[in-house]
Amino acid sequence: MDLFNVYPINPINIVRAKGSSVWDATGTEYLDLYGGHAVISIGHSHPHYVETLTKQLHQIGFYSNSVEIPLQKQLARQLGEMSGKDDYALFLCNSGAEANENALKLASFHNGRKKIIAFTKAFHGRTSLAVTATDNPAIVAPVNQTDNVVFLPFNDEEALTGAFRDFGDEISSVIIEGIQGVGGIREASVSFLRLIRSLCDQYGTVFIADAVQCGYGRTGDFYSQDYAGVDADIYSMAKGMGNGFPIGAISISPKFKASFGMLGTTFGGNHLACAAAIAVLDVMKKENLLANTQDVGDYLIAELKKFDKVEEVRGRGLMIGVVLPAELSNVKKDLLVKNRIFTGEAKPNIIRILPALNITKEIADTFLTALDERLKAC
Ligand SMILES: Cc1ncc(COP(=O)(O)O)c(C=O)c1O
Repeated sequence: MDLFNVYPINPINIVRAKGSSVWDATGTEYLDLYGGHAVISIGHSHPHYVETLTKQLHQIGFYSNSVEIPLQKQLARQLGEMSGKDDYALFLCNSGAEANENALKLASFHNGRKKIIAFTKAFHGRTSLAVTATDNPAIVAPVNQTDNVVFLPFNDEEALTGAFRDFGDEISSVIIEGIQGVGGIREASVSFLRLIRSLCDQYGTVFIADAVQCGYGRTGDFYSQDYAGVDADIYSMAKGMGNGFPIGAISISPKFKASFGMLGTTFGGNHLACAAAIAVLDVMKKENLLANTQDVGDYLIAELKKFDKVEEVRGRGLMIGVVLPAELSNVKKDLLVKNRIFTGEAKPNIIRILPALNITKEIADTFLTALDERLKAC
């Protein structure tokens, strides 16, 4: 059997990883400023993470949601504390798409409505509703197509107000990334997020903050939407939550009432996944990673802005987009091949930096030196 060929891959076989370094099968070291697509939050193979997961595996890896799993309650307690949302409730699942799927569904159960507002360039995942709320027709199958999702221009307050004026009492939810990741590191403005909050309050609509990529400390706030000073009704999360162990979740405001069978999953909230997520929160707290993210992120952004050939630097904390002129779209590839540095990309000319939240300024400097070298060679 061969693999179903859907990923354009780099011909590199990574066999070992530690902190922000990874090694291929020939022993060549790479610097990982991509974090496996914003997933590695506390660094590869963090000792506390390895120890917690190893111990858990020796005890029990999985049992279904038909029994008590105290680790789920511990995770909810720690997450409530770290995110500053003690009064929210936690539903655990396995991925970002699944988290958004459940968020959109829960909103619709809650207010009995069908319409969803999403925004241009949004990415919310590949399952049925999540992909329909994703602004990329190429990945939406005919079976997923529906008139229930309405796309509005990102950060356009007039268009949003107009949509609510026209059909506000039909809108079940508004879903928005605080910083669009796949869309090219574009930030929702503070006033836009506040407007969503006030329109949702006025019309009984659910505000869903997709924090799958921009959340879990990545911007220095726990959820990137926090900087607007308003609460969402539901936060979806995944990527950084398990530092590579598959886990997703939604954090749900007290206004929602749960009932048996309303949501569910076989694997969500299993012992191993909870142990991984708890280890991540332990490390985030003990090593003060939100502050480090802010600190190193501010430093990187300020330094990146000094490069003449960089057109724009976008993002916050350690979710940074470096916009280069179109003719320099080879730089990302060259950073990998010549400097052995993994980064992400949005369009070929936007380099996305999504490293572990515990990178140091020395690591940031290694990247800045390499970028300088690449830009000088252009
Ligand atoms: C903002 C956002 N939402 C949802 C998803 C989907 O997450 P997953 O790939 O875990 O299903 C992603 C993945 O890149 C994402 O960036």
